[in-house]
Amino acid sequence: MKPFDIVIVGGGGAGLYAAMEAMKTNPSLNIAVLSKVYPNRSHTSAAQGGANAALGNKAKDDTVEMHIFDTIKGSDYLADQDAVDVLCSEAPKIIRELDNIGTPWSRMDDNTIAQRPFGGAGRPRCCYCADKTGHTILQTLYEQCLKKGVYFFNEYFALSLSVNGSRMRGLLAMNIKTGKVEAFPAKTVIFATGGYAKMYWNRSSNAAGNTGDGQAIAFRAGIPLKDMEFVQFHPTGLRKSGLLVTEGARGEGGYLTNRDGERFMARYAKEKMELGPRDLVARSIETEILEGRGFDSPAGKYIHLDLTHLGADLIKSRLPQIREMSMQFEGVDPIDEPIPVRPTAHYSMGGIDTDNFGRTVMGGVYAAGECGCVSVHGANRLGGNSLLDILVFGRIAGHTAAEEAGKFAPGAIPESEIRERTEELRSYMKPSGHYERYGALREELGQTLAVNVGIFREASLLKKGIEEIAGLKDRYQHVRVFDTSDVYNTNLIQVLELKNMLDLAESVAAGAYAREESRGSHTRVDFPVRDDEKWHRHTMATLMDGKVVLGEKPVIMGRYELQERTY
Ligand code: FUM
Repeated sequence: MKPFDIVIVGGGGAGLYAAMEAMKTNPSLNIAVLSKVYPNRSHTSAAQGGANAALGNKAKDDTVEMHIFDTIKGSDYLADQDAVDVLCSEAPKIIRELDNIGTPWSRMDDNTIAQRPFGGAGRPRCCYCADKTGHTILQTLYEQCLKKGVYFFNEYFALSLSVNGSRMRGLLAMNIKTGKVEAFPAKTVIFATGGYAKMYWNRSSNAAGNTGDGQAIAFRAGIPLKDMEFVQFHPTGLRKSGLLVTEGARGEGGYLTNRDGERFMARYAKEKMELGPRDLVARSIETEILEGRGFDSPAGKYIHLDLTHLGADLIKSRLPQIREMSMQFEGVDPIDEPIPVRPTAHYSMGGIDTDNFGRTVMGGVYAAGECGCVSVHGANRLGGNSLLDILVFGRIAGHTAAEEAGKFAPGAIPESEIRERTEELRSYMKPSGHYERYGALREELGQTLAVNVGIFREASLLKKGIEEIAGLKDRYQHVRVFDTSDVYNTNLIQVLELKNMLDLAESVAAGAYAREESRGSHTRVDFPVRDDEKWHRHTMATLMDGKVVLGEKPVIMGRYELQERTY
């Protein structure tokens, strides 16, 4: 295959914005997007609530500076302040750019883009399209990329980087339709594969495919991962499935109530109530449940998200998808009854360590969006900053790669690498005496993470989690794929995804065990206080001889000093 200037792995918002921007920067470049699903099915389409930008449409006095401060405070002061400056300053431009290229934002009466309140934000600044914002953004970007001539390789599963010494030569991927391993020689590669919260399995709002493929490939190629222990639990996942019920539902005025009918957030965030930041609201819900004030059911414990007082018109016009999902997955119409909800693993604050331009430590390799960690979210991301992150840093990574592609000569990927990868894939199918099944390993991984590396953490549980993950990795050596066909071998894909999740789970648990403090989403009941002296720093995980080795990196400060975080 002819070498590409840029290969982008991932067809979600970050990948597509990167592709669009790279084409704009240099239309003569040869740009490919590889995606394991069709791009308009990628997980960005599940983003409901919106993207933050201080447009000042609804709250006329909103400013970029307020957005910056809310984000830094929300991050529990672990975000890098220079990166947050970029995120929030670029936000108004990027929302308007999307508007110009056709994203159908919800509008206010004066036709300006509508903005709703979101958790941890001082002003209503979340720009939305009903409760389908990610979906509409994704469609717009896909259309633009097709128009600009980006090459799409849909249903390709990325396997590994081809690296010779310190030189990156491109990517190896499996064509899911044929089962063949193909080489994509490239000057630059951008990882934009999304997050890894699906490792929590059925306690996750994530699509089945959010298995951290990009992070795992980079990790195995020697690129460090940053702050992996910070996994965000969204406060309101549907009780049975863990699917997301947007924070927009509370932004529109929804209440959280316990079995006594009490709006219990008054106990935890007197001022912000249901619109406290996610870490705080998720912990509050779990506490209500643990202290016996939740509801019980065969499908698990839960509390209520009550929208009944909002009225049918508002629910139908601004939260139509939430209504549909509640009816389909819980048998509850939120116009008439409260929705049963419980926190759900939703977002990976950690990821591939990058600078503010999307560069990693390996020349020619970039990362953006949830797959990367720049870091703008620190220990806790604010709702509405995720879509923003993929847009802003997707664009930056695309621009940087387009500018820098000329620095890297295209490398050839040797045939032997293709053969090795192919043999590796076939080896999963060979009959052997003792074998393990994918389903059991995946289930147990989700279970050990939820119990031992969940919202409330402590040394003995984390140790148990680390041991159990190591045990699962051992058992994975014997995992067998029973489907031996080449065409659409989904069992093989699942097994490869499980390998990625296992490698990353190890780094999540290792970081959580090491970090002896509580900060943002990481709550250690044995170290309940934030310890700035010892832990105001990023953890860096590197894979050395198959083992996770932890290091650290300073947090970049700016105008805002460390403060106590109250809401
Ligand atoms: O609640 C939500 O709509 C999710 C938004 C986000 O994660 O940013």
